[in-house]
Amino acid sequence: MWRAGLLVVTLCAPLTLAQFPRVCMSPEVLRSGQSGRGQCVAISADNMRYGPQYPYTGRDDREMWPLRFFNRTCQCNGNFSGFDCGKCKHGLTGPNCDQSVPVVRKNIMDMSQVEKQNFVNALDQAKRTTHPDLVIVIRRYPEVFGPDGNTPQFENISIYNYFVWSHYYSVSNTYLGPDQPTFESIDFSHEGPGFVTWHRFHLLQLEKDMQNMLGNPTFALPYWNFAIGGSECDICTDDLMGARSSFDLNSISSNSLFSQWRVVCESVEDYDTLGTICNSTETAPIRRNPAGNVARPMVQRLPEPKDVLDCLELKTFDTPPFYSTSSESFRNTIEGYSAPQGAYDPVIRSLHNLAHLFLNGTGGQTHLSPNDPIFVLLHTFTDAIFDEWLSRHQPGQVVYPEENAPIGHNRRFNMVPFWPPVTNAEMFVVAPANLGYSYEVEWPSPSFTLSEIITIAIVGAVIVVTVVGGIIACALRARSYRSSEALEPLLGETFRRYSEDDRRLDKSQSVV
Ligand SMILES: *[C@@H]1O[C@H](CO)[C@@H](O)[C@H](O)[C@H]1NC(C)=O
Ligand SMILES: *[C@@H]1O[C@H](CO)[C@@H](O)[C@H](O)[C@H]1NC(C)=O
Ligand SMILES: *[C@@H]1O[C@H](CO)[C@@H](O)[C@H](O)[C@H]1NC(C)=O
Ligand SMILES: *[C@@H]1O[C@H](CO)[C@@H](O)[C@H](O)[C@H]1NC(C)=O
Ligand SMILES: *[C@@H]1O[C@H](CO)[C@@H](O)[C@H](O)[C@H]1NC(C)=O
Repeated sequence: MWRAGLLVVTLCAPLTLAQFPRVCMSPEVLRSGQSGRGQCVAISADNMRYGPQYPYTGRDDREMWPLRFFNRTCQCNGNFSGFDCGKCKHGLTGPNCDQSVPVVRKNIMDMSQVEKQNFVNALDQAKRTTHPDLVIVIRRYPEVFGPDGNTPQFENISIYNYFVWSHYYSVSNTYLGPDQPTFESIDFSHEGPGFVTWHRFHLLQLEKDMQNMLGNPTFALPYWNFAIGGSECDICTDDLMGARSSFDLNSISSNSLFSQWRVVCESVEDYDTLGTICNSTETAPIRRNPAGNVARPMVQRLPEPKDVLDCLELKTFDTPPFYSTSSESFRNTIEGYSAPQGAYDPVIRSLHNLAHLFLNGTGGQTHLSPNDPIFVLLHTFTDAIFDEWLSRHQPGQVVYPEENAPIGHNRRFNMVPFWPPVTNAEMFVVAPANLGYSYEVEWPSPSFTLSEIITIAIVGAVIVVTVVGGIIACALRARSYRSSEALEPLLGETFRRYSEDDRRLDKSQSVV
């Protein structure tokens, strides 16, 4: 899944053309004989018990990731990172990786026209630029040396398509042999505690790759606040993720760059029957029909602002069986298998899941979803909610299950298929203090229940009457008209808020 450079274990090993790597040519390195950037270490893979969902051993290359392929890696010192420790950690730059730079993820709707344009162009460039470090594996390990036993089955892939491929690889079924159905109850990135940590690293890797591509260490992925209720996709405009085509309900307008994009990882039938793996071949255009799933009215509306507030209140990170059936679990709620208040209910799709399903197309199908660039923005927002939860509850790593989570989801499992290896635990930390990026986000303020509204209205009315009475008395005494005019905005505001809440109640009753 990566170039041969990976196996350069001595970090200052001679290169044919340059003789010695440039980074090694400092007085310190020459005197000490080592770069100080890192060392080669044995990989430790999680060997704790995992949940009952996956009953096999030795049938899937992703078990004990990445030991099927490699058992040694570079471990970087200090602020260095990357497969050969040649890069800086997120949020750091300079030859010694000791200068901090801000990486601030913003609401895409608050960006200027120029920022929006730059972001869309950067995504498009990532779709067309070959990944400089990584190649993808296109056969299972038993066939990875090719038909002649000496032709490794790897391919180059673009930066953006690698982002799509890595998601596909983490969710794909286990091939059990010809003429046997593939095993479906396996998912290294969803339906378990690793959902939040896996997608966090997934985004971090795309952001890093795009920073390197652009030569800009402050480049940050924006987010889409999808918790706006209603049935309108506000980012589906031609200056952002593409408007709807006027000729085909399910397509993106030809005025958007994204109408030119072609998807990868669509040939599920091949993967299942032939035991092959998604490769870099692009096929059909992106399909998207926001709010278009008429057969399933529940997914024709986006989540409400209050859903985010409710899920942030949940105190427990995850609950047994650490699966898509967990109740009162923050993780299962933000993922969207529970009601926003935490109760598990098999028919409910909320928050993250609901935002995907709302798209009714490429972005709503797990093995394909990152092909629609909305995926990036939907997941940065999901990650922002996760980060807010971490900083509000300060839970510490102990709340992340060490064992008995579905395969791939235990605390110390190396997330599939990332390289160099990174565990779920490493992403279970507050981002600004530990991971070199932050969110600029305003969380909705709590709204009120009906009985609270009535109480507030009564108290408000009493206050208004008292104040009005007082002022009228004063006005009568002072014969001044000014003070009564000053009351109007106050009365107007009270009226507006009440009617807004009324309308929201009506709408949600009519769809469910
Ligand atoms: C690593 O893999 C190599 C090649 O398969 C093997 O010879 C070696 O014993 C392995 N080392 C460990 C620590 O598993
Ligand atoms: C890492 O970067 C931080 C922030 O600039 C700096 O304070 C620190 O000294 C650096 N650490 C090392 C080991 O270079
Ligand atoms: C990837 O592209 C590079 C540069 O064009 C080429 O040298 C290399 O052979 C390609 N690798 C694979 C696995 O196709
Ligand atoms: C890439 O995938 C497609 C669809 O499964 C398949 O037809 C094609 O042969 C694959 N290419 C390689 C080199 O395996
Ligand atoms: C989109 O909605 C249609 C109509 O309800 C439905 O038949 C179809 O399965 C949906 N497609 C996806 C990918 O969600």
